Amino acid sequence: MGITPVLRVNPDDFAQEELAPAGRILREGGLVVFPTETVYGLGANALDETAARAIYTAKGRPSDNPLIVHLPDLSRLDMLCRDIPKQALSLFSAFSPGPLTVILKKQPQVPDVVSGGLDTVAVRIPSHPVAAALLREAAVPVAAPSANRSGRPSPTRLAHVLEDLDGRVDLMIDGGECGVGLESTVVSLAGDIPVLLRPGGISLEMLRSVLGEVRVDDAVSHRLAEGQRPMAPGMKYRHYAPAAPLTLAQGTPADVTAWLVAHSKEPGAGILCFDEQRGLFPDAAHVESLGPQADDAAHAHALFDALRSFDAAGVRAIYGALPGEQGISLAVRNRLLKAAGHHVVHL
Ligand code: TXA
Ligand code: MG
Repeated sequence: MGITPVLRVNPDDFAQEELAPAGRILREGGLVVFPTETVYGLGANALDETAARAIYTAKGRPSDNPLIVHLPDLSRLDMLCRDIPKQALSLFSAFSPGPLTVILKKQPQVPDVVSGGLDTVAVRIPSHPVAAALLREAAVPVAAPSANRSGRPSPTRLAHVLEDLDGRVDLMIDGGECGVGLESTVVSLAGDIPVLLRPGGISLEMLRSVLGEVRVDDAVSHRLAEGQRPMAPGMKYRHYAPAAPLTLAQGTPADVTAWLVAHSKEPGAGILCFDEQRGLFPDAAHVESLGPQADDAAHAHALFDALRSFDAAGVRAIYGALPGEQGISLAVRNRLLKAAGHHVVHL
């Protein structure tokens, strides 16, 4: 039994009023965990400095790492942001509500604790019906990072949130599994050229179809040099990390499979594979599949649950394949590289 009260809401069949008490808690300065289409979020009133500060305490998060502000629709965008470029509206109309976060110049009333002291703010309109209903009930902008303890993989089910935050928030809303499974795409429109800061469910190709030129921040695919600062402060942390060291291999599919088989024989080995390979590792201590090899969306959906399962199984080392860079694979690759501390073996 957990300590924090849990409200169960069926995302396919619920009445908006079910979210009224949760909305009130947010309005009054409390912390509410809620499902989104990407991962679970840990929400607080974004305009209430004390409430927003409590998020950092609950997560154990460094305070220079800014929060994403969630809105039910575009109607109050100019309350949070100024000098909004036309491109922002094109982007929101193409992909919102949905797994997209846009960085824009902030209005003075957005507290520094939300923006991490930057002069910009991150805005997102989630498409999950429970998140949308909660935001309408709250009637305030809601700052929400992923609902994990800082450094752990983001939660895609309430069970993950309970592992990390039970007793540290006022209410948790259980809305089942998150669809996308990885955090939203973060793109900055606060400078001259759009910059992808974090890949996610809205792919780089999709962004370019609307914006034309989009730069990719170095932190997406590369280990940052000592002292180098990413544009999204959160990208510098060794996030998403399971307890055991993770090593990724890059090579032909046959070479990667042979490498996985060889490592699966080590004592305490954890293997991250695809459905087609599942039977190849009878000696491994623990095997997790990301789904069918060709189904990129399934890999995104399964990744964080798989990483947490290795922790639960207590493996000593984890081995997996480095994903490609097309579509949502770029996001899976980014999270795996971070989880692995960029430890990649080239076969
Ligand atoms: O899918 C998501 O985006 C989830 C759900 C709950 O909406 N939220 C989420 O929040 O992933 P969080 O705090 O775990 O990640 C936010 C990322 C961090 O890397 C942070 O540094 C970056 O966005 N970020 C936030 N505000 C920013 C800003 N003003 N400038 C640059 N990066 C920013
Ligand atoms: Mg996070």
